[in-house]
Amino acid sequence: MNRYLSVRDLPVTDRKILVRVDLNVPIREGQIQDETRITSVLPTLTSILDRGGAVIACSHLGRPKGAVVPALSLGPVARLLAELMPERAVLAARDVVGPDARAKAAGLKPGHLLLLENVRFEPGETKGDAVFAEALRSLADLYVNDAFGSCHRAHVSVHGVAKLFPQAAAGLLLERELEYLEGRLNDPERPYAAFLGGAKVSDKVPILERLLDRVDSLCVGGAMALNFLAAQGHPVGRSLVEPDLAPVCEAILARAGEKRIALLLPVDHVAAAALEAEEAEVVDADALPEGLAAFDIGPRTIRRFSDVALASRTLFWNGPMGVFERPLFSAGTLELAKAVAASEGVSVIGGGDSVSAVHAAGVASSIDHISTGGGASLALVAGEKLPGLEFLSRL
Ligand code: 3PG
Repeated sequence: MNRYLSVRDLPVTDRKILVRVDLNVPIREGQIQDETRITSVLPTLTSILDRGGAVIACSHLGRPKGAVVPALSLGPVARLLAELMPERAVLAARDVVGPDARAKAAGLKPGHLLLLENVRFEPGETKGDAVFAEALRSLADLYVNDAFGSCHRAHVSVHGVAKLFPQAAAGLLLERELEYLEGRLNDPERPYAAFLGGAKVSDKVPILERLLDRVDSLCVGGAMALNFLAAQGHPVGRSLVEPDLAPVCEAILARAGEKRIALLLPVDHVAAAALEAEEAEVVDADALPEGLAAFDIGPRTIRRFSDVALASRTLFWNGPMGVFERPLFSAGTLELAKAVAASEGVSVIGGGDSVSAVHAAGVASSIDHISTGGGASLALVAGEKLPGLEFLSRL
C-alpha cells in the first residue's frame, strides 16, 4: 500500500493551504439533505486551522458543465460550515479564481477559512486546463487532498493542481478511506461478494470487468441490472437502458462465465407504469410487460442476494437496488442493507444512496466501514489507480 505525506506532518503554520474537499452533497430547495460529507472533512480543516494555517477550501457540487448555475452554488454549504465551526471565521468567495476569490485569499489570516465557489463553474476544471490550474495554485502555498469521493476524476482541483505545489498531502478522511478500501479489501477474506446498483451506470459498468478479478460473486441490481438483462435479450419494458452499453455488458457476462464468477442478476422486479405510480406489481425478469418499467428488485431476487450476503466473509456494496426514495420501491435496497449488516463478514459500503439506505434501515452501526465515495470507492476496490492520488507527496 502506498503511503503519502499526511496533513498532520505538513508545515501549515502561517501558510495558506488549498484543501480539495468533496462537498458534493444533496441540496433540495436550498436545504442540505445529508451533512455527512461536510462533517467528515472537519477534522482535516481544524487540524490546519488549530496550527495557525489558513484554509482555502474548494469543491465541486453537481455537474454544472463549466457554467455558473446558481442552484449549484456552494453558498448553502458555506453557511453550514460556518454553523458547524462557530468559533472560526468562515468566508465564502463568489467565484473560484476570479477577483473576489483572489482578494479574499490574499487577505486571509491564519486560522481563517475561505470556501471558493463551485470549481465546476470554471470550464477548465474538468478539462485539465493548465491556465486554470496555475490560477488555483497561485492562491495558496501548499495543497491537501481530502476529497476521497472525487479522487477517481482527473480534474484540475483533484489532480493537475497537486503537482504544481512543493508539497501535496493527504487529508485525514482520505487516509482513513485508503486504510480500509486499499488495505482491508486488498487481501479479503473469502468468499468475497460485491453488490452493485444505482445510477451513473455508464461510469460504473466499465469498472466491473476489473472487479471480476477480485470477487467471488457479483450481485447486480438497480438501473445497472436492466442494462445486463437487455444485453442478454430479456424484456426491459419501459425501463431506461443505455443501448451503447450492450457490448461492454456482454463482455462482462462472458468474462464472468470464463472465470466462473457467480454474476447474479434480478430474476424478478417490482414494476410500475411510471415512477410516480401509486401501485406496482411483482413480475418475473423474463416477463416484464412492455407498458411497465422495473423500479426495484423483486422478493425472489432479494432472497438470492441476501443469501449471498449472509454466506460471504467480505462484502462491498455500492448503489441502491431500486428507487428507494419511494416506499413502493424501497424493499430491495432496505432488505439488502439488513442482510449486509447481518452478515458476519467485513462489510464496506460506498455511495451516498447506499449510505442513506443503511441509515434508513437502522443498521449503519453494524457496517464496518461507510465510505464517503461512490464511484471512487468502486474504482479503488476494483483495483483502478485513482488520479487524485497520483501527485501526492510520497513517504
Ligand atoms: C460523487 O458524488 O460520487 C462525487 O462527488 C463525484 O461526483 P461526479 O460523479 O459528478 O464526478
